[in-house]
Formats: sequence, structure tokens, C-alpha cells
Amino acid sequence: MGKTLVTGASGFTGSHLASRLAREGRSVVSFVRPTSDVSALEESGIECRVADIRERRSVEAAFEGISDVYHVAAAYRTEHADRDEFRRVNVDATRHLLDASIAAAVRRFVHCSTVGVQGNIDDPPATEAYRVAPGDHYQETKLEGERLALSYAGRLPLSVVRPVGIHGPGDRRFLKLFRAVDRMRFVMIGSGRTLYHMTYIDDLVDGFLLAGTRPEALGEVFTIGGARYTTLNELVGLIADVLGRPRPRLRIPMAPIHAAAVACEAVFTPLGLNPPLYPRRVEFFRNDRAFDISKARRLLGYQPRVDLEEGLRRTAEWYRRHGWI
Ligand SMILES: NC(=O)c1ccc[n+]([C@@H]2O[C@H](COP(=O)([O-])OP(=O)(O)OC[C@H]3O[C@@H](n4cnc5c(N)ncnc54)[C@H](OP(=O)(O)O)[C@@H]3O)[C@@H](O)[C@H]2O)c1
Repeated sequence: MGKTLVTGASGFTGSHLASRLAREGRSVVSFVRPTSDVSALEESGIECRVADIRERRSVEAAFEGISDVYHVAAAYRTEHADRDEFRRVNVDATRHLLDASIAAAVRRFVHCSTVGVQGNIDDPPATEAYRVAPGDHYQETKLEGERLALSYAGRLPLSVVRPVGIHGPGDRRFLKLFRAVDRMRFVMIGSGRTLYHMTYIDDLVDGFLLAGTRPEALGEVFTIGGARYTTLNELVGLIADVLGRPRPRLRIPMAPIHAAAVACEAVFTPLGLNPPLYPRRVEFFRNDRAFDISKARRLLGYQPRVDLEEGLRRTAEWYRRHGWI
């Protein structure tokens, strides 16, 4: 058995996946950038190879001894990175890893996509077969990367995982939300009846490992999420509960905020500045994101183990321990 490559192992999701694989006795390699924080990876005994996944030759040179691949790295946090950079990381790098995996005859390749490729869900909950409708550069290039990966399925033992919103120790995406609730400054935009679906990081890692080992996973796409989704009102209420704060009651209407977000983006982005408000931020309050995870349950035996309240509690504790809330 060769080594297991986890790309994006210096990030939130990849670090949990890589350390779980290492704990289970796998020999884990990660491709990192010269700027990546690798201290935790090295402590977990994960080999770090510096490689620029956007460059074919760099991937080929670093690929020695790899038998399994979990491709988790993505241009993601950089909401306003230019479109070309999203494509280089989310599409070109995927192609380089897929080609190198064929050349190395890897046993399994798991590609990490996102439920974001499906955009707003008009008729929730959505299965994997529901139509795609990416809404920004990130989602468009994630969809391109996913389609590219699936086009290799005849030549490579491959599967695709689409996570819902991920929370747990190491996350920063939901920090703003927790912080606003903790400081009693949270204001709901719109009715709060919009649906949202979260997964706790350990459950998602279970999903990745099942997708990377079960024969039923080959050639398939799986949405991996928690046992239930909620309205934003309920989610924010649960966050307030775990933080020991009153449930927020303030709300403002959607229409003027969305118009302001569109205007901010139109003014700030051409100047190379990050807009204080932009449509993707408002979409969290606007787009229904609720998913049916029965395919993963049925084909993979996937079973979320951490309920939403417990996951939110652990996430809040981690933010507290780091002095962020
Ligand atoms: N977080 C969510 O709620 C969510 C939901 C659905 C899907 N996803 C997907 O889940 C995956 C992981 O997300 P995350 O939240 O864990 O992201 P994250 O914490 O931002 O980690 C991203 C990882 O990708 C790496 N990366 C970015 N650009 C790179 C490049 N040019 N070359 C090499 N590595 C690069 C980063 O390396 P550095 O450490 O060097 O920056 C980091 O290790 C992504 O594929 C994302 O699309 C996330």
C-alpha cells in the first residue's frame, strides 16, 4: 500500500481528514505551499511536500509513492480573487492531480466539490440529481472541477463528495456569525425562514473515508450533511443557546440590503477593494440550502453521529479557547 495524498491538508477540512487517516495508520502526504502553516501537520506525522498544484510539472514531481488521493484544496476563502485564479486552483489543479493519478494507477481518488454548485434550492431538500445553478466564480469553477473529475471516472476509480456548510474546531467561516450572536449584534436579513444545512467536521470526514473505500462509491456523487437542516431562525437560536446569549430578535428586510450589496460590489470591486457587503454574503440569508443525504446513507452506510447542537457547542468552545469570541 502506498501513501495517501490529501491536498488542502493545511486548511480546515483537509487537516481533520489528514490527521484521521494518520491516526488510522495510513501514511499521509500533503501538498503544501511555501506559505502554508504546516506545524500541526508535522506534529501529526504527516509528510509535507511543497508543490504548486496549479503547475502540472510540480504535481508530477511530487507524486511519488502515492496510491490514494483526497483532493480537498480549493480557492475558497478569497471571495474576490480574480476569476483566473479560481480556475487555476479549482479546475487546472484538479486536472493535474487527475492525470498524475492515472499515471500512478492510484487505487482511489475522492474529489471534494460543494453543494454550492446547486445554488438556491427551489424545492428543498435537493438530491444529488437536482439541477446545478452556480452563482459566482467560486461555485462555477467548483462545478467545472467536479465535472472534470467525473469525466475521468471511466479511467480512474473516483467519487465526488459535496459537503454542506462545515463547522467544527478549525472553522473560521462561521466565526462572524457566532461572534455577532455572542456580542448581541446579530440582525437577521429577511424572514429567517430560509433553510440551511450544516455538517459537523467529524461526520464529513466519515463521509470522505466511506467515499474513498466503498466499492458502491465509484463514479458517484454524494451530498454529505448533518442529520437535519433548519431554518436560519432556528440555527441562530441554537447558536445563541450554546453561547448562553439571548436569541436574537432584530430583523431587517431583504430587498434594500440585497440592492446595497449589488451596488457595493459594482463600486468597490473595479477599484480592487473588498466591498463591505456583496451579494454572496447576502445569499446566506436568501437561498434555501437543504439537502437529502439518503443516497450516502443507502450506498455508503453514512450515518451522521454528531447532532447539530453538540456540533455547535464544540465549535463555540473552540472559538472561545482561541479567544475569538
Ligand atoms: N467550509 C465549508 O463550509 C465548505 C462547504 C462546502 C464545500 N467546501 C469545500 O471543502 C474544501 C475545503 O474547504 P475548507 O473550508 O476546509 O477550506 P480552507 O480551510 O480555506 O482550506 C483550503 C485549503 O486549500 C489550500 N489551497 C488553496 N489554494 C491553493 C493553491 N493555490 N495551492 C495549493 N493549495 C491551495 C489551502 O492552502 P493554504 O493553507 O496554503 O492556504 C488550504 O489548505 C474545499 O474544496 C471547499 O470548496 C467547503
